Amino acid sequence: MTQRLMEAWVETPLEQMNVAVIGTGHVGLITCVSMAAIGHSVRGMDIDEAKIAKLNLGISPFHEPGVEDLLRKSIEQGRLSFTSDPGEALGDADAIFICVGTPARANGEANLIAVEQAARDVARYTKSGTIVIEKSTVPAGTARRVEWVLKHERVDLAAELLVVSNPEFLREGSAMRDALYPDRILVGAESSQAFTRMRRLYGPILERGAELIETDIATAELAKHACNAFLAMKISYINGIARLCELADADVVDVARVMGSDPRIGPHFLSAGLGYGGFCFPKDLIAFERLSVQLGYDFPLLSAVARINDDAIDNTVRKIRDALWNLEDKRVALLGLAFKPDTDDVRFSPALTLASRLLDEGAVVVGYDPQAATDAKAELPDLLIEHDPYDAVRDAHCIVLCTEWAEFQSLDLDRVRELVAYPVVVDGRNAFEPDRVTSAGLHYYPTGRPDMPAHALESVHA
Ligand code: UDX
Repeated sequence: MTQRLMEAWVETPLEQMNVAVIGTGHVGLITCVSMAAIGHSVRGMDIDEAKIAKLNLGISPFHEPGVEDLLRKSIEQGRLSFTSDPGEALGDADAIFICVGTPARANGEANLIAVEQAARDVARYTKSGTIVIEKSTVPAGTARRVEWVLKHERVDLAAELLVVSNPEFLREGSAMRDALYPDRILVGAESSQAFTRMRRLYGPILERGAELIETDIATAELAKHACNAFLAMKISYINGIARLCELADADVVDVARVMGSDPRIGPHFLSAGLGYGGFCFPKDLIAFERLSVQLGYDFPLLSAVARINDDAIDNTVRKIRDALWNLEDKRVALLGLAFKPDTDDVRFSPALTLASRLLDEGAVVVGYDPQAATDAKAELPDLLIEHDPYDAVRDAHCIVLCTEWAEFQSLDLDRVRELVAYPVVVDGRNAFEPDRVTSAGLHYYPTGRPDMPAHALESVHA
């Protein structure tokens, strides 16, 4: 994949711009690297000086396939650098991306302080004619606020600054590919001049076939939330169906296959399991719900989606308890701690929510993850960590597959059976082939599918 990502983008004709990116988190760094890869001259800005120092050495602060190769290549070619000085980053920028975090406040609303601060920095340092691009996920109406800040702080430039909304659709684990080969680029703007500038900015990517969708600003902002909430709804829908399947002795994997073969439904995001996590879906869904309430519309579907997502964890705890009887002092091994595979991100990871529930009930919880172990331990110090999956399952009374890393497919389950205390596997992602588990002498408890007893348990014991 990296090879394709690193192909010669710069040979595609481009009107080179000076691009500044405020915020170098997941979205900001991917934006820096992709803009540099297509040939722009990019400066990333962040208040975290330690992070800036690492970035300038070509070290990514998080695991994301392909990002470090492109980061280094762009730095070597002199098209990408990082600074903590807003003046240096913003002073000569033709285009400024705002990619700062929008975490949830205690009441679920998006906290937009960092967006306002970014707008103030832009107002203070920007030159005339810059296009200011809101990429952070924000409630509809935020760009209007950004514009208000800019216009009030820089009366001299008020007529010349352009504000647009350009939400990201990057999935962690495939973010580089999503940035360089997106399904669509969404631009919300209020002037033809702004659309023209955005077309120039994304020129090479558009030339390779990405669809450009142009809307007004509030529509673009709202569409982003609508997409994430819809995807979360699909996951909760299939998790609700999974519960029904368990009660009706049906198989959710087959139900999803039937549903997905209808092109009106589509096969994606119909994998039942522990539910969605990460830094986007949980917070965006609640922020969207808060926005709808503020706007005067009660949108009950949104809170139901979040509730069903919580139920997925409750149901897994119940399943583990059913299999093990009392949880006190039972050793539970969690395979996978990241919120999904191919990332080291544990923010709002269902695996950690489950771990903390099991710890509360007195279980000893040990986790293994190929990338996320350190962050998981920092988040949940009582979680024991092993750096090898076989060490994690040793003496376990129950194994729970929480994150469907590809490497778990090649686990030697006969060896696992020899190491565990009880032969119990709960599959929180329906990732194992049931026959493979049961023929190794392990009892299999998938999600939304019939439980399957171990085959030939006696001969395994013998
Ligand atoms: C998401 C959006 O997909 C992306 O467009 C947006 O810009 C940022 O938020 P991301 O958070 O990286 O991306 O992860 P995604 O691949 O969408 O998965 C989100 C969560 O849903 C994960 O916890 C995943 O395990 C879970 N999931 C996904 C399911 O439980 N079932 C599914 O069928 C699909």
